[in-house]
Amino acid sequence: MKLSLPFLGSLFHIGARPFGERDLTADPVDLFALWWERARKSEIFDHTACTLATSTPEGAPSARVVLLKSFQKGRFVFFTNYESRKAGELEANPRAALCFHWASLLRQVRIVGPVERVSGAESDAYFRSRPRGSRVGAIASRQSRPLAQRKILEEEVARIEGAHPGEIPRPDFWGGYAISAQQIEFWQARVSRLHDRFVYEKNAESAWSWRRLYP
Ligand SMILES: Cc1cc2nc3c(=O)[nH]c(=O)nc-3n(C[C@H](O)[C@H](O)[C@H](O)COP(=O)(O)O)c2cc1C
Repeated sequence: MKLSLPFLGSLFHIGARPFGERDLTADPVDLFALWWERARKSEIFDHTACTLATSTPEGAPSARVVLLKSFQKGRFVFFTNYESRKAGELEANPRAALCFHWASLLRQVRIVGPVERVSGAESDAYFRSRPRGSRVGAIASRQSRPLAQRKILEEEVARIEGAHPGEIPRPDFWGGYAISAQQIEFWQARVSRLHDRFVYEKNAESAWSWRRLYP
């Protein structure tokens, strides 16, 4: 078995303080915020990276990694190309799941809910905050479509650079989606695979309740 320093650290952490009922907050987004902050400090790679699962209306699934940019009031936001495969699936079947794996903490969080586009103003604000190269890249990439040669993409980048020496406006085909969490599950590893899992669910009155699950 390969043991890394963060793994040993996590074992100590988990051994010292297992995850249990006393750790649960009334609103799971508050618990997510605590785990997020902990992951921010301990993950070697980007703690905002998560797997986004979407599916066609016929139920054919697909998954890929995206970066979570905010999670105010149970609204989990990421940004992408509105003409990508994921966007096509989300427009046709506006439901999604996110899965975070924070390996350094031996933790996983799963989020499920309906999805909608964020406002143009919210996408503009985030687009403006990105480095210039990322903005140019977002415009140049016809995400998910076939690219005959890399040279074509690089020429498109050069053309956009030339066309926009100053401000680079957000293209209509790029922006955010928000998942309104209906279900959030927190998982933390324990010895002998006897892990701790708690799932929160929102009812019709938007009140959260939780249950412990078998690992
Ligand atoms: C660490 C990491 C972060 C990524 N972040 C994003 C992101 O925030 N938005 C995005 O559109 N693609 C992101 N990608 C690329 C996606 O995983 C994926 O390749 C791309 O969005 C096309 O997916 P699709 O064809 O299913 O639409 C990221 C990939 C990795 C590995």
